Amino acid sequence: MSILWYFELVGVIIAGLMFFDWFCEFYYNLRAYCARKNLKQYGQGSWAIITGATDGIGLGFAKVLAKNNFNIVLVSRNPEKLASVEGEIKSYGVQTLSISKDFSKCPENPEDFFNDIDEKTRDLDVSILVNNIGSAYAGHFHDSTPQEISNQNALNLWPIVYLTKIFARRMLNRTPPSAIINLSSTGSLVPVSGLTVYCAGKSFDHLFTLDTNEEIRYLAKQEKLNGIHLLSLQPSFVETPLIKDFDRKPLVISPECCAENALRVLGKVNYSSAHWKHMIYAMGYRNIPWYINARVSLKALLKQKKRNS
Ligand SMILES: NC(=O)c1ccc[n+]([C@@H]2O[C@H](COP(=O)([O-])OP(=O)(O)OC[C@H]3O[C@@H](n4cnc5c(N)ncnc54)[C@H](OP(=O)(O)O)[C@@H]3O)[C@@H](O)[C@H]2O)c1
Repeated sequence: MSILWYFELVGVIIAGLMFFDWFCEFYYNLRAYCARKNLKQYGQGSWAIITGATDGIGLGFAKVLAKNNFNIVLVSRNPEKLASVEGEIKSYGVQTLSISKDFSKCPENPEDFFNDIDEKTRDLDVSILVNNIGSAYAGHFHDSTPQEISNQNALNLWPIVYLTKIFARRMLNRTPPSAIINLSSTGSLVPVSGLTVYCAGKSFDHLFTLDTNEEIRYLAKQEKLNGIHLLSLQPSFVETPLIKDFDRKPLVISPECCAENALRVLGKVNYSSAHWKHMIYAMGYRNIPWYINARVSLKALLKQKKRNS
């Protein structure tokens, strides 16, 4: 056999693997696209706890879950904003509980910080946890201040890890299934330079969710307990204060629309951008070589910053 034959064989194998990878991703997205919302399975009259619930996507989740008859625990920083949002959520005819916490302080003593949330919700039947809180600073990494770095890591990393640990154990003892939604981002898929600390953190959140999902599935099977549906939510652009510096109008969706779509795919898939526009964007994005994306994203971000200043 000639050397050309071996080259052809290698080419066919590589093309086959690439097609298989692409096909699996396409099939997974199709499953998410076709999914229908089934929130009743988590139990009537149960509670949903949402971090960063007074604005943006967190507020979107609070409204949509309240409309679906879930009682809501709102966890956020500002007591006045919490009181006003609590009034709004109560108008849907559900019960609420507000917990005021500044998550930038959680690395000082994470155990006390998160155990306090556990204690305050101990008597509630929590069926859904939305680990929504997060923070991003755009710009050159070497220009960012230590406070910007530690604030991002405090909000993007610690709450997901600690709250998943606390609530997973509680949820495994419930009779109906429960759910945990961890906010990752499309930016977790490939490097986005200029959002370096944020996107690396969001990749952590995404992988943490998938790894934990497997461990919880194993544990539930071993102990013959009900499962927990974990979802790494990877939206692209949602109209919130976080993306005020970005100009991606055709891709922007509302926080309620983001929450509706996340709750629609919950229990059907373990990661998703959930909205069809974001799924298409993420599929394309994932196939761009990382070095091209890193370069192009930094240029685009700096151009945008210049335009905004
Ligand atoms: N927006 C997007 O396009 C997008 C895309 C992908 C992923 N995500 C992810 O989605 C999540 C939510 O994003 P978002 O755009 O909705 O964010 P956002 O609008 O900036 O979120 C604001 C919420 O977080 C609370 N918060 C901020 N800092 C806090 C602190 N130190 N302690 C306690 N609460 C604090 C705010 O409370 P106060 O009102 O008291 O400030 C408010 O309730 C994040 O994890 C983000 O990474 C967003």
